[in-house]
Parts: sequence; structure tokens; C-alpha cells
Amino acid sequence: MSSKLWGGRFQKSAEQWVDEFGASISFDQELVLEDLEGSIAHVTMLGTTGILNHEEVVAIKKGLHTLQKKAEENELHYSVEQEDIHLNLEKMLIDIVGPVGGKLHTGRSRNDQVATDMHLFLKRHVKKTIALIISLQNTIIEKSKEHIETIAPGYTHLQRAQPISFAHHLMAYFWMLERDKSRFSESISRIDLSPLGAGALAGTTFPIDRELTANLLGFSDIYQNSIDAVSDRDFIIEFLSNSSMLMTHLSRLAEEIILWSSEEFRFIELDDSFSTGSSIMPQKKNPDMAELIRGKTGRVYGNLIGLLTVMKGLPLAYNKDLQEDKEGMFDTLHTITGSLRIFEGMIRTMNINQDSLNKAVHNDFSNATELADYLVTKGLPFREAHEITGKLVYYCIEHSNFLLDLSLEEMQQASPLIESDVFKVLAPETAVSRRNSQGGTGFEEVRKQIEKAQDILSSLISM
Ligand code: ARG
Repeated sequence: MSSKLWGGRFQKSAEQWVDEFGASISFDQELVLEDLEGSIAHVTMLGTTGILNHEEVVAIKKGLHTLQKKAEENELHYSVEQEDIHLNLEKMLIDIVGPVGGKLHTGRSRNDQVATDMHLFLKRHVKKTIALIISLQNTIIEKSKEHIETIAPGYTHLQRAQPISFAHHLMAYFWMLERDKSRFSESISRIDLSPLGAGALAGTTFPIDRELTANLLGFSDIYQNSIDAVSDRDFIIEFLSNSSMLMTHLSRLAEEIILWSSEEFRFIELDDSFSTGSSIMPQKKNPDMAELIRGKTGRVYGNLIGLLTVMKGLPLAYNKDLQEDKEGMFDTLHTITGSLRIFEGMIRTMNINQDSLNKAVHNDFSNATELADYLVTKGLPFREAHEITGKLVYYCIEHSNFLLDLSLEEMQQASPLIESDVFKVLAPETAVSRRNSQGGTGFEEVRKQIEKAQDILSSLISM
């Protein structure tokens, strides 16, 4: 005889190691509060609809509240024998309230139960993720405000391209995060659906009220098809996909932070609290946290591909394969929330090395476009201006100097159109400040951009 809650049909028990292989309790215990919440809503509905009588409902609810309290105090002891969080809690309930506890599962299946738990859990945690994104965005704004007029080399192909405002570069990440945030927000409407009452797959013969449980659980609507309700995992895939995109963005910034804090760049210095030393090389200060976030991006992508692969070709409705939806989701959630928190602190505390940035922009050819544009304003076609500037750059390389080191005479040899006003034009400060096309790096535009970003965040607060 089996001691399982579903053991009636079984003549013998599985061996312990087989149970262990099939059990999900080691990880789905993270759903404990959602599972209890779902059960409380379900039993309330069983009472309202007259499926259970008042005394039964009171007894079961009392037991569930006891379990809630114990869960909050971390006092529940789970067993592999009871397989998953649902059966563990049901067994505990029966142990507390007696056989009446066995009535809780009337008109319900673990299939709609687990789906409900996942919806509740994800809805809650996507909201928390959004709050963490906002906090990082705020920090990016604050850092940017301090560095609107800090000039840095801007890159294409990782080659010095044109000088930019350092704030402009940082703010690019604000907008990436803004898109991440809107993806997470928009996904909520698809998470915010109640599968509860779908039963195993086909609904139930009991006169349940799905709208009522949906309401009690704070869902905006219910799944219209019971088969879809128990087998849909799109909302988790979407979460993993949105998380992957977020991690892509964080990983790009991580890579820049790693580059910038290297001896070769020295553009920033990370605070000691976000760096580590080497066990052998005493001089080292490693950007470990940034590297780790870059590395962790891999596991988030892996979780996305993992679940897509689980779902591919899976027949309707519930299959045990679906138990594989959980670990990747929990792991992704922990990874993105950890990464967002680390990033917020790392950006807030990092030092921008203005001297190095200044040196960098004064010792390169990133003002070459200025010279070409200058010649265009003197009437030359851009192609010719480009050619002349290129020749002057080559001349500088031959003489180991930069455009601003040339004398007016040397420049005029390349083109008689060049006059003494060229020196001001070539100064990196001028190059940046004049780029005031919309969304450009000109100081005025960057100020406007930051204001707009602040407006977006403050409109969220007032919502
Ligand atoms: N532990 C299971 C899961 O996570 C719960 C649902 C089990 N349903 C079933 N019919 N075996 O998917």
C-alpha cells in the first residue's frame, strides 16, 4: 500500500530514489505563500457556493491560516514523500484539522492549482522587478546629472569616433531600461489571469465560481478555456524573454564598466565595496561583480531556451514536463533581482576619472569630423572635405601629433579655406556642445533628455 495522498490505486510504493527524482518540493516550496493564498480563495468559494458547509470552511480556513503563520516563520518541514508543495501542504492541513482537510481539494486539481500559484508568484515578482529597474534608472539619472559636461570619447567599432558627454553615454542605458520596464509592465496583463477552476483540464461538475476566486486573488480575468488554463506557460516564457533582454543590457554595461576600469582606459574607478582583490597579485582590484553579471546573462538565456524547448511539441494539456518550468523561473528571478541591486550600488558609488577622460579626448582624432564639417561650411562638398581631413590626419600620424597640435600654416597647406577660427571648432568641448540636434550629445540636448527621463519616472510615482 502506498502512503501517498493519491495512493489508492497503487499496490506498492516507489523506491525512495525514484520519489526523489520526481519530487519538486526542493524548489517549489518557494510557492508556499501563493499556494496557501490560492487554497484560501478556493475554500472561501466552496463555502459561498454551498459546495462545503460553513463549519467545514471555517475548520479548513483555520488550518490554512495556521500554515500561513508557520510558513512566514519558516517553521514548515517538507517531505520528499509528499512530492510537491501542494501535497505537502494538503497533508499538513489534514494533520492539523483532521479528515475535513481532505475536502479542500474538491473541484480542484493540482494542475490548475500549480498554474494559479505560478501566476500569483510571477505577478508579484514582476512588480518588484519593475521597482528595482526604476531604482537603477534613478541612479543613472543622478550620476548623469553630475557629468553632463564631462567629455568622453565616444566609440564605434571600439575605435575613438566622436567626443560625447559622459552623461549621454550613461543615459543610453536609461532608455534601454525604460524599454525593459515597459516590456515587464505590458506582460502583467497576460500574467494577470486566473487558471483556478480549470480542474485537471476539463473543468468540474461542481458548481464552482471562477470569477469569485479570481476576484479574491486579485486577478483581472479568468482563462476562457480550461485546457489552455492548465497548459499555458507563455507567461513564464515571456518573463524569461524579458529577463534575457534586461540581462543583455546589463551585460553590455557590465562590459563597459570592465573596460573602463582597466589600466588601459582608467575612465572610472569602482568603489572597493563592488570590487575584489586577487589572492596572488596584491596590486589587483577586479571588477568581479560586473564580470559576474556579464557571466550570469548566460544562465538567463539558458533558462529561456530551456523552457522553450520543454514546451515545444508538448501535447495538451498538463504533462509532468511542465514541472520543469520552475527552477529556471526562480533562478532567473534571483539572477535579475540580484543583478539590478548590484548595478544600482555599483553605479551610485563609482568614481568617474575626469582627468583620464579629458586626456583621452585631447589626444585622439575624434575631432576629425569637426574639421570635415568645418570645410563643408566653407563650401566644400563633404566628400572632398573628408579626403582633405583624412590627409591631415595622416600627416599628424607621420609627425606624431594631433589636429590641434598643427599650426595654421600646416593646415592651410591641406586647404586654403581653413582659417584661425578652426582651433575653437576643433576643441572637444565645442564639438560636443554644438551637437544639439534632437537626441544628440550637445549639453543642452542632454539636459533636456535628463529632464524628460525624470518626468517619466515622476509620472510613475504619481500614478
Ligand atoms: N509538481 C507538479 C508541477 O510542478 C504539480 C502538478 C502535478 N500535477 C500532476 N498531475 N501530476 O507541475
